Amino acid sequence: MSKLTVLEHPLIKHKLSIIRDVNTGTNEFRKVVTEISQLMCYEVCRDLELEEFELQTPLEKTTGYRLSGKKLGLVPILRAGLGMVDGMLMLLPSAKVGHIGMYRDHDTLKPVPYYAKLPADVEERDIFVLDPMLATGGSANDAITELKNQGCKSIRLINIVAAPEGVKAIQEAHPDVDIYVASLDRELNQDAYILPGLGDAGDRLFGTK
Ligand code: PRP
Ligand code: URA
Repeated sequence: MSKLTVLEHPLIKHKLSIIRDVNTGTNEFRKVVTEISQLMCYEVCRDLELEEFELQTPLEKTTGYRLSGKKLGLVPILRAGLGMVDGMLMLLPSAKVGHIGMYRDHDTLKPVPYYAKLPADVEERDIFVLDPMLATGGSANDAITELKNQGCKSIRLINIVAAPEGVKAIQEAHPDVDIYVASLDRELNQDAYILPGLGDAGDRLFGTK
C-alpha cells in the first residue's frame, strides 16, 4: 500500500484557506498556488539522497552536501497542474518538465487524454506528478499509467486537495506511488467535485469562468 502524507504545516494551511475562499481572484489564486507548491516541494523532498564533498569556505575547508540521487522530472497534468510548476522549479531548478494533457468529460467524468510530451530520459528520473486536485483519481491514475508505460519506476503524486475516493483509487491501482497532499477533504459531490474543495482549479487559475 502506498503512503499518504498530509502536509500539516501552518503556512500551508493558512495559504490553502486563501485559495479555498470564493472571493480570491485569479491573480492571487495563481500566486498562492505557486507558494503552496513551493512549501509542498520542501516537504516532499525531505528524503532525497545527499552526498558529502569537501569545499573551501573563505576561512577553512568544510564538508558540503549535494543532491546525489536520480535526476528529477516534474509532470504537471494540464491544465491545472501547470499552476504548481513554478513553485517546484524555484527549489528544483534543474528538474526537467514533461506535460500530460487530460480533461474530465463532463458526462462520464472519465479523463480524456489529449497531449503528452515527456523528457527523453524520463525513465531514468524520479517523477513528481503535479495536479492541484485529486477527485475520482481518474486523471492521475491514467497519467501514472502512461508514465509507467514509458518505463518510469519511481513516481510520487503531489496534490493540493484530495478526496478520500481519489486517494483510494490511486492506492489500489498504484500501490508503489506515494501521495502527498496539503489537505484530505471530506468527499465528492454528485458531480465529482471535492467538498469543501476550492472549485474548478483550472478555471480559477486561468480565469476561464
Ligand atoms: C481537474 C483537475 C484534475 C482532475 C481531477 O482537471 O485539475 O486533473 O480534474 O479529477 P479526477 O481526479 O476526477 O480525474 P479538469 O478535468 O477540470 O481539466 P482542466 O485542468 O483542463 O480544467
Ligand atoms: N477538478 C477540480 O478542479 N475540482 C474539483 O473539485 C474536482 C475536480
